[in-house]
Amino acid sequence: MNAAQAKNLSVFFSKGKEVTWALCGINFVLPLGGSLALIGESGSGKTTLLRTLLGLVAPSEGEALLFDTDLSSAEAAKRRSVRRRCGYIAQDPYGSLPPTLSVEDAVAEVWQLVHGSTEEAKEKATSLLEELNIEREMFKSSLRNGLSGGQRQRVAIARALVLEPELLLADEPTSMQDASTRWDVLEVLKRRIKRGMALLFVTHDLLLAKVITERGLVLFQGNPCEEGPSKAIIENPMHPYTEALASALPRLGKPLKAAVRRRGAPKKEGGCPFLPFCPKSFDKCVTSPPFEDISLGRKVACWHFL
Ligand SMILES: Nc1ncnc2c1ncn2[C@@H]1O[C@H](COP(=O)(O)OP(=O)(O)OP(=O)(O)O)[C@@H](O)[C@H]1O
Ligand SMILES: [Mg+2]
Repeated sequence: MNAAQAKNLSVFFSKGKEVTWALCGINFVLPLGGSLALIGESGSGKTTLLRTLLGLVAPSEGEALLFDTDLSSAEAAKRRSVRRRCGYIAQDPYGSLPPTLSVEDAVAEVWQLVHGSTEEAKEKATSLLEELNIEREMFKSSLRNGLSGGQRQRVAIARALVLEPELLLADEPTSMQDASTRWDVLEVLKRRIKRGMALLFVTHDLLLAKVITERGLVLFQGNPCEEGPSKAIIENPMHPYTEALASALPRLGKPLKAAVRRRGAPKKEGGCPFLPFCPKSFDKCVTSPPFEDISLGRKVACWHFL
């Protein structure tokens, strides 16, 4: 059994005659206890991929599986039992928290709904909140006001972890943290990974992917570009898009630049999707490159390597 898997997964959204392909032919396997980063710029389909795995968006083609189950078509009881094995940190910590509860109750509620015991729920919630560096004085604060964005995000992380999930789907979970609280969050996640939790980690930040995950999958406008060990992808990128992402990493003394200037919504057409932006394109790139193993554990969708 795998923790998560996509098989030839495509998802499109349509609005009138306009069709946006958010995901085009995604394949990956995340084994139990493994960790995979989904890397890409804004609009590359990362959130859609998590939402499709969770059964919140239906696949247009192919399959999205959690624990070998397609949640978009599973019966309610099966869906509940699979969801209970998963934690989900949504990208927006404002929309995903119950505004009327206190910090402590928002975390304890999740435990209580499953296990019942109020005392144990409070203990679990407080120790997790402390681990995430939320000050004790904040525990009784209302989520409606009095919390910073970073604090809210850490409360959302505590809610996702309190049931000790076998798989965590984390959508940019450190986007609102400063350098020190980001480190706290990463340490909390690393401890869970060590204990056997699988992690699907969405990020646009290559360096974060390298710190926290074993493997990475790079997406460009919903298309898979490159997959392999996170360290290898970042230190030795092969696909021209991954190269562009790596060279756009901010460094002191270096002027900032965008990895790619996007033009319009993603479409599903023939040819390499990166062709309009690629400095290395040649004749063959007008046909779509397959996403294939080019060496052990490394895949690249680029004719230069096939
Ligand atoms: N519900 C929707 N209806 C229509 N289009 C959508 C919907 N959700 C996503 N899209 C489109 O699908 C594409 C992928 O969006 P998605 O939110 O998955 O990207 P993302 O990689 O998570 O971006 P970000 O880094 O900004 O969060 C975008 O072009 C987006 O506009
Ligand atoms: Mg997103």
